[in-house]
Parts: sequence; structure tokens; C-alpha cells
Amino acid sequence: MKILLVDGTIIGSKTGAILEQINTYIQEFNPNMELKVLRLSEFDHQFVDGRPLAEYNDDMREIVRRFEDADGYIIASPIFQGSIPGVLKNTFDMLHPHTMRYKPVSIVANGGTYQHHLVIENQLKPILDYFRCLVTPNYVYTHSSHFDASNTIINDDVHNRLRELARVFVQYAEMSQHLSKVTLDNH
Ligand SMILES: Cc1cc2nc3c(=O)[nH]c(=O)nc-3n(C[C@H](O)[C@H](O)[C@H](O)COP(=O)(O)O)c2cc1C
Repeated sequence: MKILLVDGTIIGSKTGAILEQINTYIQEFNPNMELKVLRLSEFDHQFVDGRPLAEYNDDMREIVRRFEDADGYIIASPIFQGSIPGVLKNTFDMLHPHTMRYKPVSIVANGGTYQHHLVIENQLKPILDYFRCLVTPNYVYTHSSHFDASNTIINDDVHNRLRELARVFVQYAEMSQHLSKVTLDNH
């Protein structure tokens, strides 16, 4: 299975650090998964403005192609202004609503405020529900204090939560292979 690990920000480095850690733990649970990291910071973004896909630049079309090609996703997001970064929302807006349908997704996030894990519950999960993703019931929210100066995760509880997330994600990914993406409705 092809899993896309999305670093959903163009600023900061802790979000990417959590993504690298979950990448390692997923490989421990299933070494046969093909894991690819997509860093939004490496792309030239354009605002979604309703033009046909063919009229966007190569980078935007490449992002869409990588999402379509994947069988599952890890979405990593920092919290910006009590929400997800605009560049991540813009990326979701580029996708056809069927792109992530019935595919497994896990979320990792980072913020400077402890209570802002609720951004994941109230804002990111509803977007993924709209896409009809198989969102794992657990996610991992880290706070800046869980990292050392070189952005290594130094909190054992966070490591255990990431291991558990990787375990559940791998199970969801394997289960999703038996769920047909062909729908009976027209939505
Ligand atoms: C523009 C901006 C807005 C932010 N808003 C919030 C916020 O509302 N809540 C929060 O918990 N953290 C907020 N933060 C902190 C970021 O979540 C944090 O910087 C990010 O997780 C990445 O950490 P790093 O920049 O040290 O790599 C904000 C950071 C920026 C740059």
C-alpha cells in the first residue's frame, strides 16, 4: 500500500519532526508499506480559484496526483490562529471529493497551546469526514514543550501515543483494502 505522509505547513519544523517519527513507527508495524513524505513547503502554491485542474501550475497538479495515487494518509498540521494552516486547507480544496474516499487517515498535530488539540476535533476531522475518510479514532497532538532544542520528541507518553497511532493506522489500512471504493450512491 502507498501511504502519503503530508507535512501540512510551509513554516516551522516540529510538524515535520512528528511526521518523521510516525513514519518510523509505521515501518516497525508494517515494513511492506510504501511510505512517501509530501512537504507542502517544497511546492509553489496557487490559490484554488475555480479554474480547471489543467490550468494550475505543475506543482499544484503534482500535489493532486500524489493524493490520488495514495491508498492512505498521515496528515500533519500545526495550529495557526486556532485553526489549520491556510496552505493545508487550500490543498484539500484542490482535491476532487472522491480522492480520499474510504481511505485510512491518521492525524498528528502540534501547537503552542495545550487546549488547541480541539482544533483537530472541531476543524480537521470534519474536513476528513466530508471526504469520507476512514479517520482513526486516535490522533496525536503535541505541544512545543514535548520537543528539545533540536526538535526531537523527548516525551515518553508522546512516543507511546505515536506507537499506538501507528499500530491502529496499519490495522485501518489493512482493513480498508477490503472496502470497495465503488459506491452505490451518486454522491
Ligand atoms: C501564524 C501562527 C499562528 C499560530 N497560532 C497558534 C494557535 O492559535 N494555537 C497554538 O496552539 N499555536 C499556534 N501557533 C504555534 C504553532 O502551532 C507552532 O509554531 C507550530 O506547531 C510549529 O512549531 P515550530 O514553529 O516550532 O516548528 C502559531 C504559530 C504561527 C506561526
